[in-house]
Amino acid sequence: MLAVRLGDNGAVTAAPTPHPAAYSADAPASAALLARARRVIPGGVNSPVRAFRAVGGTPRFIGSGRGPYVTDADGRSYVDLVSSWGALLHGHAHPAIVDAVTATAARGTSYGAPTEAEVLLAEQIVDRTPVEQVRLVSSGTEATMSAVRLARGVTGRDLVVKFAGCYHGHVDALLASAGSGVVTLAIPGTPGVPAATAGTTVVLPYNDGDALTRAFAEYGDRVACVITEAAAGNMGAVPPLPGFNRLLHEVCRAHGALLVSDEVMTGFRVHRSGWWGLADAADGWAPDLMVFGKVMGGGFPAAAFGGSAEIMARLAPDGPVYQAGTLSGNPVACTAGLVSLRLATDSVYAGLDRTAATLRGLVSDALDAEGVPHLVQSAGNMFSVFFGDPAADAVVDFDGARAQRLDRFAAFFHAMLANGVALPPSAFEAWFVNAAHDGDALDRVAAALPQAARAAAAVGTGA
Ligand SMILES: Cc1ncc(COP(=O)(O)O)c(C=O)c1O
Repeated sequence: MLAVRLGDNGAVTAAPTPHPAAYSADAPASAALLARARRVIPGGVNSPVRAFRAVGGTPRFIGSGRGPYVTDADGRSYVDLVSSWGALLHGHAHPAIVDAVTATAARGTSYGAPTEAEVLLAEQIVDRTPVEQVRLVSSGTEATMSAVRLARGVTGRDLVVKFAGCYHGHVDALLASAGSGVVTLAIPGTPGVPAATAGTTVVLPYNDGDALTRAFAEYGDRVACVITEAAAGNMGAVPPLPGFNRLLHEVCRAHGALLVSDEVMTGFRVHRSGWWGLADAADGWAPDLMVFGKVMGGGFPAAAFGGSAEIMARLAPDGPVYQAGTLSGNPVACTAGLVSLRLATDSVYAGLDRTAATLRGLVSDALDAEGVPHLVQSAGNMFSVFFGDPAADAVVDFDGARAQRLDRFAAFFHAMLANGVALPPSAFEAWFVNAAHDGDALDRVAAALPQAARAAAAVGTGA
C-alpha cells in the first residue's frame, strides 16, 4: 500500500512499501511471466535490453508505478532509476498527466485526422528549441529514420556519417557500431541490413575531430548528413568534448551536408531546450535537423523531427520527400507530452540537477569506501558509472566505454536490485532521475549502496 503525497510540482512522492533486508534473487511471479512470454514473444521481451542478458537473472515484470517507485509482479517495490529509459521526467503516474490523458481518451483515442493537441505540442517544441517546424511521429527510431531520409532528399546525397557508440534507434542505416542494446548484447554486425544500405554509413570515433576532418576531406561531397547524439547516453554517459558539436556544424556547413542532432534522450530532459539549450545555444549556432522523443511523449509513444521551415517544406504534402504515419500525432500521446512539457519548468530542471548530483556523490562515496575503481560521468542530469581497473580519467568514446568491468557492474546491479533499487540493466546505459525522486527515495538508494559496492569489490581485480 502506498502512502501518496504530492510534491512541489504535483508529482506523486509515494512512501515505498517497506521491504525486507534484501529481496531474494528469485522472482517467482516474474519468472513465471517470462516463461509464458518466451512462448509467444522472442526472448520474452519487446525490446532486447529489458531481457537482463547483460546482467543475468530474471527481468522484473512491472505491475505498477507511482512517483519514484515501481512495483513488480512479486509485489516488491524499487526506486526506479530507469524512468522508462528517460521518458518519465515527472515520475510514474503523475496526477496531472493521468487526468489529462484520461479525459482525452474518454473523448476518443485516434481519428487519423488533425487535432488541436498536435498543434499545442508542436508549438511547445518550437518554443523551446531552434527548430521552426516539427513533424510528429510515434518513436525515436521513426524520427531518426525520417530525418535521415529528409537530409538525403534535401541534399541529393546518400552517405550518412555516424559515431561509434551512438544509438539512433534500429534504423537500417544507423545500426552500425551502435550503443545501447546492440552493444549490450554484443551483436557483432547488423544482420538483416542489406550490404548496400550498410555501405552508405560511415562510422567514426566519437569526439574525434581529426577523424571527422579526414573523412570529409575524402568524401565530404557525398555526405548527406552527420547524425550524432547531442550528448551520448547509449554507451553510458559520454558528453561531447567542448567544441565537438560546433565542429560538426562547421564541417557540415563547409561541405553542404546537414547536421542531425539526435536529442531523443537529452531533449527536454537535461534542460528545457535539451542539450542544445544546456551547452550549445549560447554559442549562437543550431543543428540543421533535430530529433526528439521520450520526454516529449510523457510516457506515451510520441517523437518528432524538425528544422527550419525551408528544410521541413521538402516533406510531403508540401514537398516531395514522403513520410507518414497512421498514429502520428495521436491525441492521447500528444496530450501526455504536452502536460509533461508544461510541467517541466526551470525549477524542475534545477531539482533534477540536484538529485543527480546527490546520487553521483552517494555512488562514488560508496564505491570509494570499498576501494572499487570507477568513474562517474555525466551529461547534464544523466549519468552513469564506469567500473575500471584502474578507473579511467574520462571516457570520451566507445573504445573507452567498452574497456570497463562489466562483471563488476552486474554484481553491483543485482545487489542494488535486491535492496530495492532498479538501475538500467546494462553498463552501457545512462541512469535517469525524475522529479518524483524525493528524500525517501534517495535514502533508499543510499541504504542499498554499501552492499552493492561490496558486491562489486568482491568480483575481484580481474587481473
Ligand atoms: C538517442 C536515441 N535516439 C533514438 C532512439 C530510438 O528511440 P525509440 O526507442 O523510441 O525508437 C533512442 C532510444 O533509446 C535514443 O536513445
